[in-house]
Amino acid sequence: MGKSITHKIIEKHLVSGEMVPGSEVGLRIDQTLTQDATGTMAWLQFEAIGIGKVKTDLSVSYVDHNTLQMGFRNPDDHRFLRTVAAKSGAVFSPAGTGICHQLHLENFAKPGATLIGSDSHTPTAGGIGSMAMGAGGLSVALAMAGEAYFIPMPKVVKVELTGELTGWAAGKDVILELLRRLTVKGGVGKVFEYAGPGVATLSVPDRATITNMGAELGATTSIFPSDDRTRDFLEKMGRGSDWMELVADADAEYDEVITIDLSELEPMVAQPHMPDQVCKVKELAGLKIDQCAIGSCTNSSYSDLKNTAQILSGKKTPPETDLLISPGSKQVMKMLSREGLIEPLLDAGARVLECTCGPCIGMGGSPTSGGVSVRTFNRNFEGRSGTQDGKIYLVSAQTAARLSLEGEFSDPATWGPAPERVELPEDVPSIRDLFVFPPEDGSSVEVLRGPNIVALEDFDKLPETVEAKVLLKVEDNITTDHILPAGAEITALRSNIPAISQYIFSRVDAEFVGRMKDHGKGVILGGENYGQGSSREHAALGPRHLGVKAVIVKSLARIHRANLVNFGILPLLLVAPADYDRLSEGDDLTIPASAMTPGGTVEIGLADGGKVAVTNDLTKKELEIIQAGGLLNAVREGQS
Ligand code: F3S
Repeated sequence: MGKSITHKIIEKHLVSGEMVPGSEVGLRIDQTLTQDATGTMAWLQFEAIGIGKVKTDLSVSYVDHNTLQMGFRNPDDHRFLRTVAAKSGAVFSPAGTGICHQLHLENFAKPGATLIGSDSHTPTAGGIGSMAMGAGGLSVALAMAGEAYFIPMPKVVKVELTGELTGWAAGKDVILELLRRLTVKGGVGKVFEYAGPGVATLSVPDRATITNMGAELGATTSIFPSDDRTRDFLEKMGRGSDWMELVADADAEYDEVITIDLSELEPMVAQPHMPDQVCKVKELAGLKIDQCAIGSCTNSSYSDLKNTAQILSGKKTPPETDLLISPGSKQVMKMLSREGLIEPLLDAGARVLECTCGPCIGMGGSPTSGGVSVRTFNRNFEGRSGTQDGKIYLVSAQTAARLSLEGEFSDPATWGPAPERVELPEDVPSIRDLFVFPPEDGSSVEVLRGPNIVALEDFDKLPETVEAKVLLKVEDNITTDHILPAGAEITALRSNIPAISQYIFSRVDAEFVGRMKDHGKGVILGGENYGQGSSREHAALGPRHLGVKAVIVKSLARIHRANLVNFGILPLLLVAPADYDRLSEGDDLTIPASAMTPGGTVEIGLADGGKVAVTNDLTKKELEIIQAGGLLNAVREGQS
């Protein structure tokens, strides 16, 4: 039987397990990336493992999230990241150089390589054929220490692309169409592998937009073949030697096949507050727009912004519509500047921001109260923009640029001809000198810490029987933004678990932290797809610090589930989803933790004598990790 690209890469990196969907496989990891919001913790964890130097082929520490320097916290974190990278043998990318995924795609990612990153949009590198996965910071720290990365062997979905994009349709519309069809739960446990004649018609930036936002499907990752267009991209980036051809065998078998005819796509939009609430742009005609924001790791490439400049050239946005533009990297910024494309942006009224995540992580650029913000980003969860009642709509860069001129949604049929599709210039400027490469011997480097950097606490083992109250009951589709909101004030505390824990669920139930303090321990009850969204392990670390022992849910998002395991919180699944309605906040529960077996069912005792059956999808190893009080404890036990 022929092999898919996914099977080829996994087979080459397999260190344990069998390639049978659902069973655990351990993978050797070639590259890692961290960003500052999750990376300070990942690097503290790497230090706690005590291995000294990174063991991967390449590890890069990016600073792109918490770049506002309104006090000592963020600059101290950046200094810590710079010095710990130098000491440990990792490359450091300073604040303002660009967004981790855009920079990694342009400068470091390789076809056929495995990459994990402490950011859920790490699959962006799948646009050039990397097997790139988002992971919790601790998993990344362990990969840097040379340990394997464990995942359930994914099913492989072939996305057969036919035809060619026309008019105003863009790569973004491919992934919005998939989200429309499959929803934010549709990709769990799956890799989306793109194939078919339509692939060759898509540029690398279009492909990277699609694999970036495969994260919103809940997918393990997404991947494109490495073909002539990939080679052209890498050659223009001065990295032709990193190219290798990587395509599926002609007779490769897949677990599922989905077909998309690119020529049928038209501009789409994901409406508030979920990336799968997708409709056609024309269906919203007449809706006033208060803000447009172009950028983020999804749509901040040279081609996105050159298209934007072409659309805005000689025109002006209305005064009611704020336009923010964040280039994805200094490489993009340099190309725009060299071609005189910054001036049309400025003249149109745009605010050109630095090359960072910026408004995507609520680091400035919040919309007005109740305002409509049209963004090229990947997420539109409630409150993520920094304005709790802001309404975020997700579109492609060219759609956002066009709409910013109108100040309201309109039918693309009235927009006139679409801008020409943009190719990279032959002489892409290098920004390699802006990265800080580590010294050969970093042993004498002093790692500098500020008072905001608090070493990780030790966690207790899980008791044999957990007796605790349900201290929070939440609905379906709780995101990591619900668990731990983004925004400048909170994210500045990412390296200080005691301080950041005070914000856990603060925008859902402001009394929750107080109840946890009163009781010292507790259980969270959730619905479907609990923990979807970002990879932030603080959404597990914070609850763990407060004393959360278990979450009982109908279903769990992949990375958050892994983070719960890593920090010793029991992820329990209701056998009968209807039992969700039988449980209430304040219920006393007795969980027979030591009686749990992989995939087995146990009964939770209720104070009134009733029982609720729960199961799990944990492996034996994961259960042992939870019982040890988390992965760091388990690794230390293993080392000793
Ligand atoms: Fe940054 Fe937003 Fe991407 S926070 S890494 S631009 S999802």
